[in-house]
Amino acid sequence: MSAHSAHIIVIGNEKGGSGKTTVAMHLAVGLLRMGFKVGCLDLDYRQQSLGRYCANRKAWVERTRVPLPMPQLTVIMPSSSDLKSQAIVEERASFDAELARMASECDFVVIDCPGSDVPLSRHAHTYADTLITPINDSLLDLDLLGQLDPMTWELKRAGIYSGLVWELRQQRRKTHKSGIDWLVTRSRLSALADRNKQKMAEVLPKMQRVLGFRLAEGFGERVIYRYLFLWGLTVLDLAQSGIDLELTKSHQSARAEVMSLLGNLWLPRVTERLERI
Ligand SMILES: Nc1ncnc2c1ncn2[C@@H]1O[C@H](COP(=O)(O)OP(=O)(O)OP(=O)(O)O)[C@@H](O)[C@H]1O
Ligand SMILES: [Mg+2]
Repeated sequence: MSAHSAHIIVIGNEKGGSGKTTVAMHLAVGLLRMGFKVGCLDLDYRQQSLGRYCANRKAWVERTRVPLPMPQLTVIMPSSSDLKSQAIVEERASFDAELARMASECDFVVIDCPGSDVPLSRHAHTYADTLITPINDSLLDLDLLGQLDPMTWELKRAGIYSGLVWELRQQRRKTHKSGIDWLVTRSRLSALADRNKQKMAEVLPKMQRVLGFRLAEGFGERVIYRYLFLWGLTVLDLAQSGIDLELTKSHQSARAEVMSLLGNLWLPRVTERLERI
């Protein structure tokens, strides 16, 4: 990495469909709108959702001529080697090269991981200055962070993803001599109060101390987060002139959620630029 290395944000969770790509795209656009240079690495070469999101944004800008800030984007492609060990080495090398290039050119690099445990995703976690794990507000999804006793609701043991983060944190300390700031965000929160939501609110703050993450507010369940994908837009773009979409109360709340997450990440030079969004 160069002396002017970027701050690296990894979005990871082995559980699929927890909102990782949605968070990645919104953070990237938020940072761009603050005037930072942002690189995006999509490690999910099967779905390439972040890659497709950015490609849609580029196409929308070309079609409408409304200038939107654009991140650099690279999708790390799989190795063609039949030999698994060789494929791992090749994919790591291509990731390392691309990350080093982006880190020397950008202020932030946002890395979107697939919703499964693959060697490249593990490798990327060891580069995380900040790791964000969005989880669906469900006790089933929570099991990957920590296993709970059904009678006492006490934490019995770490879940598989927390165990993995613990292991990769040790690895990172050895290789990079610094830690990982790990944030867990509750994703797709419903507006309704129910028992599940109440229990999640009770147990997560207790788990954070033991498992070593910080809990932050995530994004609520809102149609707008799903609706903008085909144009490559985010809720932070809606106020820009030339975008013909009404800014409703719900959209404004979504915007406030994204800004709040950006503020809670404690990223370098971000707090003083939040009002630029
Ligand atoms: N806050 C939200 N409100 C409503 N829908 C959402 C929200 N966040 C994500 N979604 C929708 O939920 C689905 C999964 O989101 P997303 O693709 O961001 O998750 P992911 O964790 O990246 O999934 P994967 O593990 O498959 O990569 C998508 O259909 C997305 O549009
Ligand atoms: Mg994804």
